[in-house]
Amino acid sequence: MKISVLTLFPEMFGALNSSIVGRAVAGGVLEIDVVDIRKYSKDKHFKCDDYPFGGGAGMVMTPQPIYDAVQCVDPERKCRRIYMSPKGRRFDDSVVRELAIDTRDILILCGHYEGVDQRVLDLCIDEEISIGDYVLTGGELAAMVVIDAVSRFVPGVLGSSQSNRDESISSGRLEYPQYTRPAEFMGLKVPEILLSGHHANVEKWRNEEAERLTKRLRPDLSESIK
Ligand code: ADE
Repeated sequence: MKISVLTLFPEMFGALNSSIVGRAVAGGVLEIDVVDIRKYSKDKHFKCDDYPFGGGAGMVMTPQPIYDAVQCVDPERKCRRIYMSPKGRRFDDSVVRELAIDTRDILILCGHYEGVDQRVLDLCIDEEISIGDYVLTGGELAAMVVIDAVSRFVPGVLGSSQSNRDESISSGRLEYPQYTRPAEFMGLKVPEILLSGHHANVEKWRNEEAERLTKRLRPDLSESIK
């Protein structure tokens, strides 16, 4: 899968060079193309924002640089084009899976300032996605959340032992607690059952813990699977 991100702050995406996503990109399993919108500005100072018509606070991103960047990245409109915005459809596990199984590559536009000229959204964008009911200073962190979550479903990004655990949230249950060595830390012991080597009992304990945690921390999830 290829994900193109259009942004005024390409340096923010350095975070994706680390960890699992970074390894997937280095291994060629996933392609992430970070595109600097400013390079497409026809303004002599590469300006990409201006005052809003009608007045009001803040600046609005101008349509020309975004339009040209989108045309360059996806000239035949083959990508699923997403604008990160608090007005968008709420991002959750079902949206992650939907994006992951879509055969189209993804183009993500990140806004900044007070937003983006509506005309370029009308012309270029298929859908808006929000990562929650709060307003970030820009779409970049939200885009990274989407990229990270979708990447986990791209074949080859996770090892097989990790991908087995994809079910946790979508099955409507939180994950059971995990422990590793040492068996005792600061006087706290790992639950005895996990040291027993009895796989069926371990499985039973994990199921019960997952159930208990879900009821306590996310009763809404508990209810929704009844
Ligand atoms: N840009 C600013 N706030 C956002 C949010 N909550 N989700 C997605 N993009 C955003």
